[in-house]
Amino acid sequence: MATGFSLLVIALLLFSSSAENHTKSEVTANPADELVEVLNKNRTANKNSALYDNPGLACLSLQYIKAYQGDCGAVGGANAKKPADSEFTETFAPNCGIEVSTLAQITGRLLGCETKYVKPAEAFSSILMKNEKGLDILYNKNHTEVGAAVTGTDGGAPYFWCVLFSNGKSNSSFVFSDGVAKISRPGCFSGANDECNSSTSLSLKSRWYLYLAGALMAVIYIFGL
Ligand SMILES: *[C@@H]1O[C@H](CO)[C@@H](O)[C@H](O)[C@H]1NC(C)=O
Ligand SMILES: *[C@@H]1O[C@H](CO)[C@@H](O)[C@H](O)[C@H]1NC(C)=O
Ligand SMILES: *[C@@H]1O[C@H](CO)[C@@H](O)[C@H](O)[C@H]1NC(C)=O
Ligand SMILES: *[C@@H]1O[C@H](CO)[C@@H](O)[C@H](O)[C@H]1NC(C)=O
Ligand SMILES: *[C@@H]1O[C@H](CO)[C@@H](O)[C@H](O)[C@H]1NC(C)=O
Repeated sequence: MATGFSLLVIALLLFSSSAENHTKSEVTANPADELVEVLNKNRTANKNSALYDNPGLACLSLQYIKAYQGDCGAVGGANAKKPADSEFTETFAPNCGIEVSTLAQITGRLLGCETKYVKPAEAFSSILMKNEKGLDILYNKNHTEVGAAVTGTDGGAPYFWCVLFSNGKSNSSFVFSDGVAKISRPGCFSGANDECNSSTSLSLKSRWYLYLAGALMAVIYIFGL
């Protein structure tokens, strides 16, 4: 009896410590920054220029995601929606503290939504670059800068990944009116030297049931302009 109990305790300890290691290994400095790194590596390997990681544009990407209010179904398929361009000036820029006069043209966008959190490199290849259209958007020669964001709604699934591209000038487009990036949670965005742990800022609550749920349905969609 005592032995059985001890074994159970040991099993539980092993399970929880391995789960903890697993969680720790997924903590990254900022998944949105990592996504930009992967994306730029792919562009330069394809003889395209590396893009400037603009924190203002990235903050807008996070706002763009928030416009979906966690509705994966609105990202693709029959009920696909896309925020109106006017939202950039009316809502997104003010929420980010970006001077509207510094908004530059958006030359491409990538958006994906999945019920499961994956690492940035995998999000790049298996969500955002899932079809040819994604690569066309990525390799567009007009882009000069990029901004990426990832978020889990209310800190949990579903997970949205958004990348916006622009042809703006790096030091004079998407400028924060007080000069510093306005960080908001939940969600992480690139370019702001903002440490944003995927576990604490995105998904802590949902992680356990995500593991248990195993293979989940994924809704994936990509569109350009
Ligand atoms: C978890 O990590 C610690 C230290 O990093 C290690 O000592 C321990 O063996 C690991 N546990 C498992 C189950 O891998
Ligand atoms: C760029 O990404 C695409 C899509 O994931 C992949 O097929 C291709 O091999 C990548 N290119 C390089 C050079 O990594
Ligand atoms: C680049 O921009 C020019 C001028 O706006 C446009 O005519 C052209 O179609 C764009 N190229 C791509 C690949 O989008
Ligand atoms: C922005 O960059 C351009 C060229 O890269 C440079 O001429 C200009 O002085 C810069 N402006 C500011 C405000 O840093
Ligand atoms: C990220 O994790 C580190 C170490 O666990 C912690 O010190 C830091 O406060 C975390 N940052 C955020 C934004 O949660």
